[in-house]
Amino acid sequence: MGRVDGKIAIVTGGGTGIGRAAAARLAEEGAKVTIAEFNAESGQAVAEALGGDAVFVRHDVREEASWQALMEAVASHHGRLDILVNNAGILATESDQTLGQTEMEQWRAVQTVNVEGVFLGCKYGVAAMTANGGREKGGLGGGAIVNMSSIAGLVGTPHLLAYGASKGAVRQMTKSVAIDCARKGLGIRCNSVHPGVIHTDMGDQVMALGNNDAAAKWAERLVQIPMGEAGQAVDVANCILFLASDEARHVTGTELVVDGGITAI
Ligand SMILES: NC(=O)c1ccc[n+]([C@@H]2O[C@H](COP(=O)([O-])OP(=O)(O)OC[C@H]3O[C@@H](n4cnc5c(N)ncnc54)[C@H](O)[C@@H]3O)[C@@H](O)[C@H]2O)c1
Repeated sequence: MGRVDGKIAIVTGGGTGIGRAAAARLAEEGAKVTIAEFNAESGQAVAEALGGDAVFVRHDVREEASWQALMEAVASHHGRLDILVNNAGILATESDQTLGQTEMEQWRAVQTVNVEGVFLGCKYGVAAMTANGGREKGGLGGGAIVNMSSIAGLVGTPHLLAYGASKGAVRQMTKSVAIDCARKGLGIRCNSVHPGVIHTDMGDQVMALGNNDAAAKWAERLVQIPMGEAGQAVDVANCILFLASDEARHVTGTELVVDGGITAI
C-alpha cells in the first residue's frame, strides 16, 4: 500500500522542477494527481508521463476564476480533494533585485504569483477539504496543504528582495491557515517547505543573476552548503510527500527546511 494511497491531490506548477517531482512521488505512492499548470505543454507532458490517474488542468494561480474552475474539475472527477501542493512560484528577474533595483511592476508580479496564488490556493483548498468532514480526534481525514516557501522566507535576501518578501509571506500565512483549521476542528493541516539551492530551471536562473558565470556561481555556492552539494527536486518532493501523508497527522503550522544545512550555520 502506498503512503498516500487513493488520495486526491493537486500540484500547482507541476509541469517542471520541484512540482513535477512532487507529482511523481505522490503518484508513485498511490495518489490520483491533477497537474495544475500554466504551461499547457509541460503540464500535459507530465500527466502523460505519469499515466494512470494523473491528469492535466490548465491553471493560473493568479486568477480566482481559474481556482474555481480547477476545484470544480477535481470535484466532478473525483468527488473530493485530500492534498493540495501550492508549489507554483516565480523569481521574475534576470538580474539582481535589490531594494533600489526593484520596480513596482516586478514587485507586483512576484507577489501576485507567489503570495496571492498561495492565498487563493489555501482559500479554495480549505473550502474543498472542509467538505470531507472534520477528523475525529486521534483519527484521520480532513486534508493536507503544503505551501512552497524557500530559505529566502527565513533569512534576508538583499539580492532577491521581492522574492524573499513573498516567501516570508507564505511562511507566515501557512501558520495562520494551520491554526484556523485546527481550532475549527477541520482536520486540515497546513505546512510550509523551505528549499535551499535545488537543481531546477529556477535554481539555474538564480545562479545566472547579474550576468555572472552561472557555472562559477554554482561552484561558489556549493562551498556554502555544509552538505557540499545542491539538492535535487526529488529531495524536496520527498518532504512534500511526508507532509501530505497521514504520517504527518500531528504536524501542522510548521516549516520543513531542506537546504543541506545552509540556514543551520
Ligand atoms: N529551485 C530552487 O532552488 C528553489 C528554492 C527554494 C524555493 N523554490 C520554490 O519551489 C517552487 C518550484 O520551484 P522550481 O525550481 O521547480 O521552479 P520552476 O521555475 O522550475 O517551475 C515553476 C513552475 O510553476 C509554473 N507557474 C509559473 N507561474 C504560474 C502560474 N501563474 N500558474 C500556474 N503555474 C505557474 C511554471 O510554468 C513552472 O512549471 C517555487 O515556488 C519556488 O519559488 C525553488
